[in-house]
Amino acid sequence: MSMSLSRSVLNVMHLGKTVPTVDGPLTILHDICFSVDEGDSLAIVGASGSGKSTLLGLMAGLDTPTVGQIWLLDKDISGSDENTRAAIRAHHVSFVFQSFQLIDHLNALENVQLPLELVGMPRAEAAAKAQVWLEKVGLKDRLKHRPKTLSGGEQQRVALARAFVTEPDILFADEPTGSLDEQNGQKIIDLLFQLNQDMGSTLVLVTHDTALAKRCKRQMVLNAGQLILAT
Ligand SMILES: Nc1ncnc2c1ncn2[C@@H]1O[C@H](COP(=O)(O)OP(=O)(O)O)[C@@H](O)[C@H]1O
Ligand SMILES: [Mg+2]
Repeated sequence: MSMSLSRSVLNVMHLGKTVPTVDGPLTILHDICFSVDEGDSLAIVGASGSGKSTLLGLMAGLDTPTVGQIWLLDKDISGSDENTRAAIRAHHVSFVFQSFQLIDHLNALENVQLPLELVGMPRAEAAAKAQVWLEKVGLKDRLKHRPKTLSGGEQQRVALARAFVTEPDILFADEPTGSLDEQNGQKIIDLLFQLNQDMGSTLVLVTHDTALAKRCKRQMVLNAGQLILAT
């Protein structure tokens, strides 16, 4: 008889974020606590301005909290310096930004192969892998296009291919289907869950897409910076 033990890959403990503004300090996140097990899929939903993107960036180690701790893959990323956080991200984490954050002077193929080259994969091998993922997201005819010559939906699919290509332990994605039509959105959702099932990648997604939120194993609702419901 086999026994499966869940290992938590993300622990958020009493997390708070306060930023300075011209009107004084503004608390964006209040006392957030939860954890995510290896291989889970979690959808974070909530109104615009509720703190979803801020929370996602903190979990991925892109930003540091004001109070509390975040453990990512057994490392206290909230207490690590930028170099340590960058190394954890490069080897284990992918992030899909709401604004895509593609590199303007690189074409689609070069954008997608970059994270592989950054961890030392030879250029030709990285390019071959990047091409496979661009084909999977339906962009095989756009390999040499620079971001500015692609539509919003195409840019989003390049950003997704760049996130998938490293087969990350954890994938954080902010509105990953926000710029896609229904057909492409469905294709991307299928790829997300294929990565989750075949590679065991943990998914943490911010979404307004109810179909995507429902397909996740767990859902979490943020309201004005507070966690009001978690499953
Ligand atoms: N650096 C910042 N300075 C001031 N206010 C910020 C900053 N970052 C985010 N906010 C504010 O915090 C709130 C949460 O932002 P965000 O996490 O982007 O929300 P969501 O992704 O749920 O729409 C918003 O009201 C936003 O205006
Ligand atoms: Mg947002």
